[in-house]
Amino acid sequence: MSLFEINNLKQLRDERGVLTILESEKDCPFSIERVYFLSNLKVDLPRGFHAHYKLWQYTLCLQGSFEMIYDDGVRREALTLDSSSKGVLIPPMIWHEMCKFSSDCLIMVVASDHYDEEDYIRNYDEFKRKVKSDS
Ligand code: TYD
Repeated sequence: MSLFEINNLKQLRDERGVLTILESEKDCPFSIERVYFLSNLKVDLPRGFHAHYKLWQYTLCLQGSFEMIYDDGVRREALTLDSSSKGVLIPPMIWHEMCKFSSDCLIMVVASDHYDEEDYIRNYDEFKRKVKSDS
């Protein structure tokens, strides 16, 4: 089974354009407490490189494309996000990296809680140790 859980958001298309809907606790399985955007990204400057102890996140590529890498401490998988209607869940304890951003890439992330640096694991060896001790 893939590490990625992807779901399709409802889109309403007509001659005026496309309306995409993301509902809290419905399309993403948590209550949304924070939203942030990543823009002006550089193809050769990957980001992320962390996991969260408790935070749930859900991300969408609103424009352009990028590659998401997931690592659960055992398996490592990559997925290209290139659609504004496809949301990807980032559960706790998934090491994630983002790279290969197109020049027009715009990423939106919704999160289950406010920003808390204490919830981050930014060291990969520490992440692996935590996975091992939890198993
Ligand atoms: P960072 O975790 O390095 O971003 P990425 O995961 O995209 O690589 O975050 C960059 C800085 O922004 C870091 O100092 C933490 C801060 N930050 C906030 O203050 N609030 C937030 O909601 C987020 C996501 C980051």
